[in-house]
Amino acid sequence: MHKMKLSNGIEIPVIGLGVYQSEFGEQTENAVEWALESGYRHIDTAKIYGNEQSVGSAILKSNISRKDIFLTTKLWNNDIRSGKMKEAFNESLEKLQTDYVDLYLIHWPVQGFTEAWKVLEELYFSKKIKVIGVSNFHQNHLSELDKAATVKPMINQIESHPMFNNQELIDYCQEQKITVQAWSPLGGNGTNIISNEILNEIGKKYNKSSAQVIIRWNLQRNVIPLPKSVNKNRIKSNIEVFDFNLTDEDMMRINELNEFKRVGPNPDDFKF
Ligand code: A2P
Repeated sequence: MHKMKLSNGIEIPVIGLGVYQSEFGEQTENAVEWALESGYRHIDTAKIYGNEQSVGSAILKSNISRKDIFLTTKLWNNDIRSGKMKEAFNESLEKLQTDYVDLYLIHWPVQGFTEAWKVLEELYFSKKIKVIGVSNFHQNHLSELDKAATVKPMINQIESHPMFNNQELIDYCQEQKITVQAWSPLGGNGTNIISNEILNEIGKKYNKSSAQVIIRWNLQRNVIPLPKSVNKNRIKSNIEVFDFNLTDEDMMRINELNEFKRVGPNPDDFKF
């Protein structure tokens, strides 16, 4: 798996398996097992997904050394509100059956995120986390964080797919040397982006699916996509994207599909 360097020098595999809405137990364990078998070395989970235990078990069962897998989890909103950041982190470690995570993210910019960031920094300095970052942060949240932070976030994980490419925020982050990860890169399960004619037409030129085109488009704009799948063939095909290049015109046509349509909540107005 190809890697890129983050602002603190740590390398991250450029595609990760997303497990949001993968069920606890066999479904998630299989997805992670198949992903690792097909060459993924980056798994993205969160406390709120309820499947950290399954992710951890699948990693342990694989014969791949822990240090060769980039593992992400996220701090949930209620644990920030109740000031239980450290407890939540330790619980995640326990469920993941590991003694460190590669990446720990503040999941949403809830009130108290600057205090939470201080805890992430402490865990980072004590080497329990290799990379610290945020998720669903807009420019205003990032600049508020900046005022309190000793360590700048290395990652911002945000919604981005062709119908809501979020390019302005991506450009802003990249200017600040914050690497961007895309959640729901394929539009989640509530849209029909995969059947978009233009994406399929572009794919045909390279003998690739529209999903592979979207994943490649992310790589070429230096965004790390985290496609979710629980299907063995789709998991495998989602990383078969290193043997073709989209042209500038292809990239532009995909950028033009933007309809400013989110599939998830707006980070400036969410109620959970
Ligand atoms: P499934 O898990 O059954 O494969 P996103 O990553 O944007 O959240 O999108 C995930 C959705 O897209 C899931 O419903 C997933 O279903 C589906 N999906 C993942 N990979 C592909 C693919 N290569 N082709 C079509 N659908 C896919």
